[in-house]
Amino acid sequence: MDLGLKGKNAAITGSSQGIGNAIANSLADEGCNVALSARNQERLDQAVAELEAKGVKAVGIICDLSTEEGCGKFIKAAAEALGGIDILVNNVGGMIPGTIDSVDEDLWDTILNTNLMSFVHTTKHAIPHIKKSSAGRILNVSGVTGKQLMPGALTTTIPNTAIHGFAKIMAAELGPDNITVNTICPGFTNTESWGPRSEVMAKMKGITPQQFHDGVSAQTLLGRWADPKEIGDAAAWMVSEKNSYQTGTVVEICGGFAKYI
Ligand SMILES: NC(=O)c1ccc[n+]([C@@H]2O[C@H](COP(=O)([O-])OP(=O)(O)OC[C@H]3O[C@@H](n4cnc5c(N)ncnc54)[C@H](OP(=O)(O)O)[C@@H]3O)[C@@H](O)[C@H]2O)c1
Repeated sequence: MDLGLKGKNAAITGSSQGIGNAIANSLADEGCNVALSARNQERLDQAVAELEAKGVKAVGIICDLSTEEGCGKFIKAAAEALGGIDILVNNVGGMIPGTIDSVDEDLWDTILNTNLMSFVHTTKHAIPHIKKSSAGRILNVSGVTGKQLMPGALTTTIPNTAIHGFAKIMAAELGPDNITVNTICPGFTNTESWGPRSEVMAKMKGITPQQFHDGVSAQTLLGRWADPKEIGDAAAWMVSEKNSYQTGTVVEICGGFAKYI
């Protein structure tokens, strides 16, 4: 099926590695131009080169998305470099294992600015550009910890649940402009960031990293973690022109980790 993404322009926050990078690759495979963002120049340059090799326009923008200034800089540079923005993917973030006692005020500032407020600021700056598109799409990447209880996941459960409310309000505000706003909740996905994080999570639970990994697999219905490409391909469908009547939804892509009905 032609998803109608050829020649469209997508801006993806936090995309030099992990799920954001997988989404960029899935979009580029469909002929969509992509603007990436990250703080580390070397990894960003490499990601851009890999995407350009697919024959699309790819641009990397160094910015700190934990500030509104950084979010605005990313959107302005992305729109200028690509010639407009049809699709925004709010993805930046990640889990810092912790408990109510171990996360201090400074860490909460970083977490909430990166995992939540970046979604708000980037969306605000992107809306004027997306309104000019014939098929405007906004996709938020939250996580299954915003839907299913996972003790120890305090630092993503709080922003993820807020993202779900934010997305619903944005879907209502932007519906009259024919812009859809949806959210995906990836489950446990084999990204680079899980290397050190698995060790901390295992230590908190008094088990080995391998036991933590296997324990997560056992909690899914498919018995395994996700490959980032599986999240990227689902995201590409969500923001495609073909997916025109879905808005305000929260969709789990978690191998059956979430078990409520
Ligand atoms: N991996 C999972 O199992 C999983 C599960 C559910 C939900 N999620 C969600 O999926 C999203 C991506 O997670 P991931 O595991 O793929 O993350 P990741 O591997 O840690 O990658 C994060 C990306 O964002 C960039 N980044 C981080 N902070 C930034 C900042 N302040 N400004 C600009 N760029 C920044 C990083 O590059 P630099 O470090 O160079 O800035 C990197 O490109 C997150 O929202 C996470 O909560 C992940």
